[in-house]
Amino acid sequence: MIKVGILTLSDTGAAGKRKDKSGKRIEELISQIGGEVTYYQVLPDDKETIVRELKKMTDQSKLELILTTGGTGLAPRDVTPEATTEVIDTEVPGIAEAIRAKSLAKTPKAMLSRAVAGVRNESLIINLPGSPKAVEECLEVVLPVLTHAVKLIK
Ligand code: MTE
Repeated sequence: MIKVGILTLSDTGAAGKRKDKSGKRIEELISQIGGEVTYYQVLPDDKETIVRELKKMTDQSKLELILTTGGTGLAPRDVTPEATTEVIDTEVPGIAEAIRAKSLAKTPKAMLSRAVAGVRNESLIINLPGSPKAVEECLEVVLPVLTHAVKLIK
């Protein structure tokens, strides 16, 4: 079983103005590989808040896999990649590369996601875009390697 944390980044979601369908979709998909969601938060697109939360999730909650959704695009409030880059010890560029490559076959808009992936302590952090459709398409690319990846970082 993989201990999974989901972090949804959305100003409207955090304000209670939008239901978090993407977080729910992640939970459904990750259960296919035995992932159990033990931590879940919806936060606004604020870099310092995201950095603080990611540190808590990796250092205190000891999650093995952290999947973020949202805030990876070009809007001024999109800061998830910057927050993730600030907390990771090692980048895993191949994960983001694979997601973008496969996604580009589905939509040219995939090039607009600046998502990153990396390791902090014993946690693998992967950024996913915000829409439920994008979450599904992107997570499906990495799903087959996640169990192995999580084993490697311990
Ligand atoms: N990737 C896939 N596979 N499918 C999608 O529909 N949407 C794109 C892109 N990546 C998309 C995708 C769009 S429209 C944007 S703006 C960026 O992800 C960033 O999304 P975010 O700001 O919600 O994180």
